[in-house]
Amino acid sequence: SPVRCNAILSETYSNETFELADIEWDDLGFGITPTDYMYIMKCTRDGNFSKGELQRFGNIELNPSAGILNYGQGLFEGLKAYRKQDGNILLFRPEENALRMRMGAERMCMPSPTVEQFVEAVKTTVLANKRWVPPSGKGSLYIRPLLMGSGAVLGLAPAPEYTFLIYVSPVGNYFKEGMAPINLVVESELHRATPGGTGGVKTIGNYAAVLKAQTAAKARGYSDVLYLDCVHKRYLEEVSSCNIFVVKGNVISTPAIKGTILPGITRKSIIDVARSQGFQVEERSISVDELLDADEVFCTGTAVVVSPVGSVTYLGERISYVDSGIGVVSQQLYSALTRLQMGLTEDKMNWVVE
Ligand code: COI
Repeated sequence: SPVRCNAILSETYSNETFELADIEWDDLGFGITPTDYMYIMKCTRDGNFSKGELQRFGNIELNPSAGILNYGQGLFEGLKAYRKQDGNILLFRPEENALRMRMGAERMCMPSPTVEQFVEAVKTTVLANKRWVPPSGKGSLYIRPLLMGSGAVLGLAPAPEYTFLIYVSPVGNYFKEGMAPINLVVESELHRATPGGTGGVKTIGNYAAVLKAQTAAKARGYSDVLYLDCVHKRYLEEVSSCNIFVVKGNVISTPAIKGTILPGITRKSIIDVARSQGFQVEERSISVDELLDADEVFCTGTAVVVSPVGSVTYLGERISYVDSGIGVVSQQLYSALTRLQMGLTEDKMNWVVE
């Protein structure tokens, strides 16, 4: 049954009761580990979210005709909390996730929490689950906010009620390769998004739509799929779960945000970090020919962080980068970003929230 936030938080703020969860911290992959609490906040017909509360992590009940189940009216977000060496916990740019959820909600005809409500809810959930934030250097606590049409509808229409829910899980590397370079295959038949569609927001259905090509690619030994635009079938879009960057000399390029590509927060952060390190960064259309001719390729995302790409296969032709090792640019940007996220370097951009 629901437990009041205050009771849980007074317990969680007290350091005497705090002990790390008893799990194998060295073996974290990217999977779900049930934690202690989830956060739930409801929005009824008046369009306002009521005060949220923590509940024990577990199953939720939905009406069979909920908008999310029948018509896919839902969004999700992803962000991470890192434990600093001094034990404090850091969030990375949580207000950016709040803003992206608000943008997506507008596209999906849903009300959304304010930036303040979102960030407060994230902090509350992380503090209530602080024993699940991995020790410094062992991974992070992945935070998954969901916004869904939970009210009942039958005729196609926006749901009459909405639920905002946050759950968390300690995670390590996203790809089974760990920090080793991944091998991508370019998909030239199936597409992830269309102009005017929902590819630019984090709606749940975008991720179901990529499972078919991803499953087929994994069965053939690839790590994941890189999508091309559906009009020319020539320009890079994104990988199933992350954005893509190509490096040529001192120029780092990534596909421009035009509605079919997710505006990644790691993508945006890497652009700023790379510019601050003297790289020329271009957001533009990138042809598959440029990809094949690149010096280095890497992916970015909350879950994947910065993942070097060892090879790309396009129409049966395999191109390998930096002898399938980790390129210097990918390594340099990975270190700069993760050091910031873990509180190991000065946060000149004011991105980190303690
Ligand atoms: C993330 O990187 O946080 C995402 O939402 C991608 C997801 C498929 C794991």
